[in-house]
Amino acid sequence: MKTIFVLNGPNLNLLGTRQPDIYGTTTLADVEAACIEHAKGSGVTIDFRQSNAEHVLIDWVHEARNAACAIVINPAAFTHTSVALLDALNTFDGPVAEVHLSNIHKREAFRHKSYVSMRADTVIAGAGHSGYLYALTQMIATLGAAR
Ligand code: DQA
Repeated sequence: MKTIFVLNGPNLNLLGTRQPDIYGTTTLADVEAACIEHAKGSGVTIDFRQSNAEHVLIDWVHEARNAACAIVINPAAFTHTSVALLDALNTFDGPVAEVHLSNIHKREAFRHKSYVSMRADTVIAGAGHSGYLYALTQMIATLGAAR
């Protein structure tokens, strides 16, 4: 069974109550359940994780090198700051999808820059939590095509 890591960065543990006008009222547990449901029957399992710590996300990307065939990542604020996370993703051979709940390009100028986009094969922003499902669809299709 193939595994897709779905990784979530800082403050996303507060999804549902954090700035709901921007990020919606769906919780991260709801997003995880939707991802698992979405992948059913695809031959892929979902390993869904969240951390507020940059080094933990980097360690998970390293783990993915041997344990995952694709990565879906919402790096949250590390999107805009973390060369280290970009460097880690550049060590991963499989497809990478970057997801943002909000449209980062419609927001403050500091959110327009994404280091992760320099590695991501797919970028989805502004689709709310459905963006995770679109990203999974794309990763599963890409993996199928690579079979
Ligand atoms: C976010 C956008 C980031 O700019 C922000 O720091 C987040 C969430 C999103 O999902 O829209 O924490 O990645």
